[in-house]
This record gives sequence, C-alpha cells and structure tokens, in this order.
Amino acid sequence: MVKDHSLSDFIFHIIEKHQIRSYDPAFLERLREKLSTISQLYYQIYSTHPHKDEMFEKLVVTLFRANNERSNGLKKRDEQKAKKGHWFLSNEIVGMSLYVDRFSGGLKKMPSKLNYLSKLGVNFLHLMPLFQSPEGESDGGYAVSDFRKIDERFGTIEDLKGLIENMQKKDIYLMLDIVLNHTSHRHEWAEKAKAGDAYYQDFYYMYENRWIPNQYEEHMPEIFPESSPGNFTWSEACQKWVMTVFHEYQWDLNYMNPMVLREMMDNILFYANLGVDVLRVDAPAFIWKQTGTTCQNLPQVHTLLRLIKQCVMVASPGMALLGEAIVAPKEIIKYFGTGEFTAQECDFAYNAVQMALQWDMLATGETDVMMAAQHEILKKPFGTSWITYTRCHDDIGLGYENHTIKAAGKEPYKHRKYLMDYYSGKYPESPAMGKLFSSNPKTGDARISGTLASLCGLEKAIKVNNPDHIEESIHKIILMQANSLFIGGLPILYYGDEVGYTNDYSYEEDPGKSYDNRWMHRPIIDWKKIKLSDKTGTIENRIFTQTQKLIQIRKKLPVIADLKNLTWSSPQNKHVAVFMRDKGDERFFGAFNYSKFQTHLTWFAFKEHTLAPKRLLDHWSGQEFEVGPDNEFLEFQPYQFYLLEVLE
Ligand code: GLC
Repeated sequence: MVKDHSLSDFIFHIIEKHQIRSYDPAFLERLREKLSTISQLYYQIYSTHPHKDEMFEKLVVTLFRANNERSNGLKKRDEQKAKKGHWFLSNEIVGMSLYVDRFSGGLKKMPSKLNYLSKLGVNFLHLMPLFQSPEGESDGGYAVSDFRKIDERFGTIEDLKGLIENMQKKDIYLMLDIVLNHTSHRHEWAEKAKAGDAYYQDFYYMYENRWIPNQYEEHMPEIFPESSPGNFTWSEACQKWVMTVFHEYQWDLNYMNPMVLREMMDNILFYANLGVDVLRVDAPAFIWKQTGTTCQNLPQVHTLLRLIKQCVMVASPGMALLGEAIVAPKEIIKYFGTGEFTAQECDFAYNAVQMALQWDMLATGETDVMMAAQHEILKKPFGTSWITYTRCHDDIGLGYENHTIKAAGKEPYKHRKYLMDYYSGKYPESPAMGKLFSSNPKTGDARISGTLASLCGLEKAIKVNNPDHIEESIHKIILMQANSLFIGGLPILYYGDEVGYTNDYSYEEDPGKSYDNRWMHRPIIDWKKIKLSDKTGTIENRIFTQTQKLIQIRKKLPVIADLKNLTWSSPQNKHVAVFMRDKGDERFFGAFNYSKFQTHLTWFAFKEHTLAPKRLLDHWSGQEFEVGPDNEFLEFQPYQFYLLEVLE
C-alpha cells in the first residue's frame, strides 16, 4: 500500500520508470489528492495477490495515459461541469434510451434524427450497446466481443465520433454502457482461454469439475431460468466449466484477478475519452463472487466501484457513473456509497423500485404498497440521483420487498400473482397485453415484458377499436410519464414510447431472439409512424405532444432538480399519491390519481408539511386554484394528475 508520506515518491517513480513525458498539472493534483484512497481500496481487494504491486503500478500508469489521451475539448467540458457543481441533478436534463440501428438505421443516420429528439425536449441520449457483439448471441449488445470496435451493424468508431460531435454542438449529453460483469465467449480473452492459455483462463471462473460450481449453485439464484438455467456452462473447447450467470455465451469476468480490473479500467477510460457524460455500469451487483453467498451485492462489489469512481475522478472527472443495480431496495441504496464513501460511489442508480411500484399502482389503483416502500427510497444521499423511468429495454421486475406488500395489508404471493396476471392479460378485466419473462417454476417468480403502450391497454383498445379505451390508455401513459418526470432524478424515456409504440411480435420468428421476449418491447422505428406525430388528432400526435408538454414543464421548474427535496403527504385517499418538492421559497406538488374512479383530496394534503399555500397553478391544465379550507376538496377524474406550483 502507498503510504501518505511516500505518495510523491511513488508518483515520481511511476513517471520515471514509465517515461511519462508530459502530464496535465490539474491531473497530477487530482492524482496526489486521491492516490492514497485509490491505494487503500485497491489493497483491500488485492492484498494477497502475488502480483499486487506490479498491477497497482499498471493501474496508475493507465490513469496517466488516459488523461494524456483526453482531448482538450473534453478537459474544458470537465472544467465547465466542475464549475456547475452537480451538473447532473438539473431539472433541465431529459433523456432517452434507444437502439441506434432500430431507431435510425445506424450511427451515420443518427445526426439527422437529433432534431426530432430536440423537438420532443430530449437532451440526453443513452445509446444502447454499440460495441462488437456476435449476431444471435448478443443479448442486445450486452455480450461484448470487442470493447473498442463498433459493431458493423451500427457503423464505425468514426461515425460514433461524428455523432458525438453533433450531439455536443446541440448540448445533448451522452450515456454509453460498460459491460463490466462478463464478455462474450467470442471475446479475444475468452478465445485464448478456450485455447488453453492459462493467463486468460484466469480472467474467468473456470473449473475442471463440478466440485466448486456445485457449491456456488447452492446459493446462486438464476437470472434467466427459462432460456439459460444454472450458472455454469461446459466449454467443450477447453474441457472446463465456465461461470455464466446470464446467458451461456456471456462469460463472467474474474475480478479476483487485478489484471481484469486494469483492463476494464482501461476500457472505461477509453469510453470516457470518447466523450461519455454518464457511464452506465451494467450489472455491477454481480462482479464479485463467493461460495456460500448469492454472489450479488457483496461488499467487494462496492469496494471495486468506489475504486473505479476514484480513478474516473482523477482521469476524466466530468464523467458520472450510473450503477445498473436492479436489486432489492435496501441494496440499491448502497450503490450510492455508504460511510466515508457516501455519495462517492455511483452518482446514479435506477429507481427500479419506484418504477415497478408505479406499475403496481396502475394495476391495483392503490398507492399503499408504493408508500410503504418510500422509507428506503428516500435514503438516497444528497449529491446523487435516480434514473427515473417507466419502461426500458429490460423487463419489469417486481423486486420490492415482501414486507412492504404486507405493510399494505396484502399477501405478497397473491399480490404479485395478481400483477403478473394483470399485465400478461390473463386477469379477465385487464386491458394489458404483456408477457411473463423468465418465469421460474421453482420459485413462482416472473418478470414482465411489453411496451408502455401495450401494458397501458392501447394495443387492445386499438384492436377492438374502442375510442374510450384508447383515450383511457393515453391517460395512463401520460400519468406514468408524468410521475417519472417529476418525482426527482434524471428521467429517461424509452424510444417509441413518445408515440405509443405497441408490442412488436416479429422476434418470435427470429431464432437469435425468440428465446427472449424482451424483444417485444424493442421496436424498429417506422419514420412514417413518427410523421403521424405531426398530424393533429392521431394517437401518435396526442401522446407525443403531451409528452413534449410534460418535458417543457419540467424544464421550467428548477424546484424539480433532484436536490433531495421530496416529501410525501400522508395518504388521505389510497388512490392518490401526493408529493411536495421544495427549493428555497419555491414549492411544487405532484398529485396522481392511479385509479379508474373519480375521487378527491381535502386541501389539507397541501398544508401538511409546509406553510399553507393560498394559490396553486396546475401547469398541466393551466388552471389556477384558490386553496380552500380543510373540509373542501380538489377533485380528480380517473387517472388524472396535477402538477401544481405554489403561486403564493
Ligand atoms: C443488464 C442489461 C440487460 C442484460 C444484462 C446482462 O441487466 O440491462 O439487458 O441482459 O445486464 O448483461
């Protein structure tokens, strides 16, 4: 470990030994400041590794190189972000997640679509995985066979650079993924491991017999029990069992080997130097394994993420980290860092619990389970933020804790069963047309696939040509989006939802996709349909313009920035969720009726935690309200919501 007093000596030694001829003084200052923490974290993990010191040096050299390769433009951008402070908490950022090929046809075509996104109000893009990934064994790009080469399907690295330049000119932020937990079995490291190279076999978890795999299996849950049961796959080529937590073609990387960390750090900084503003760290919960545990959320995961965060702060300080940890609520919170590392781990995590609970409310018309879960969600530290969303490329997992369901007086098994039946359309009165994903007959668990529109009933309503049901499903879509846009965090819309794309069943005919029904909600955009968003009265136009309006309202209200400024009103009425956001003298209330009933709230809902307001402006309808006495009411139509700014 590098002692504080020898920090300068160590840095000097690295510069000499590795003939580092030039470096940025600001970088050196950051390195001096953080090196002792970096070394502490590193040695916490690797203190017993035979090559620990040599690898540590290599890691530090990686930081020097990466910073030297960082363009002046990006360094300037880093400085601007540092001046703004927590730039990513702003209410002015609204994101969209999209597959470049399915959205526009390829990287070269993307720049011509940016105006459409700007018109909607989107100024942050999550481009789904772009790096090389074998066709038919790609897991939507999450099985990477080359972390530096853009897959031919999308274009070239030059095309990506061109797009980024265009995006930066238009002030559009960029998010890309780093798939940290595994590589494709076709990655060079895996191919070498298959060929018997012991150095690369140590990059993965490989065993000659089932002795250790069996011990792991005792406690490891299955991620894709239907399409990829178990956590190990037999490799004929090298006659070994390989750990494959996700699909059998995704080989888990072994972070007990510090060389793996070094290599992946290099890839992370390569992405940083492309101009990534937020790096989505895919599936971080899984990166450390230990027999006798579920191999998820282990303490070493957090040590590694903190180490990555520190290295990023030194080499590319403008890049924020999103930890894609879709795990139990009390575990999600830990990804923001704990103890002395509070707010020093991931800057973002997905508010997957709130997302799933919005779907819970929509199916039940009741807010009580969602309210019971808030205690954990509100623990998010200041300076960090949620990604808020209604849909993404993945399924919806009902991963909230049983005790929150019980706290609402419901029986967890039956409650989840109802939700699964409701969204898969099995429940008789359900308008939803989703499918169960990864059903596990052993546990009775399943997740849910389907687009926002289809889960909200639009697909069915169009099919039976029922204008009232179409209207109702649009209300639900906008209610869900409004909640995600105003609850606090960086909202990321999912492409196609802005015009109400319904499920795409063509994946069923494609053998590379048919085993994974998440493809039903990964549409190929038809730009003729998008054109309909300009034509008044069409479904596309109604959804697009309302989504656009929500975004415009969000951007106008600084009180919506994620300043850890959310307070829930006590439920007066189990159908309606009400929260307050406040900043200095500014106050805002979001009030959402999740039920199909007309209902009301007494005006007390707006006085409970603050000085009684006199007048409220609903930004959604444009209507102003005098706040009445506590025995008078604010009325709600089915699925109606209010976005209320306190005027005085
Ligand atoms: C993440 C991705 C998901 C993928 C998995 C394995 O959860 O969002 O799509 O299947 O990681 O990489």
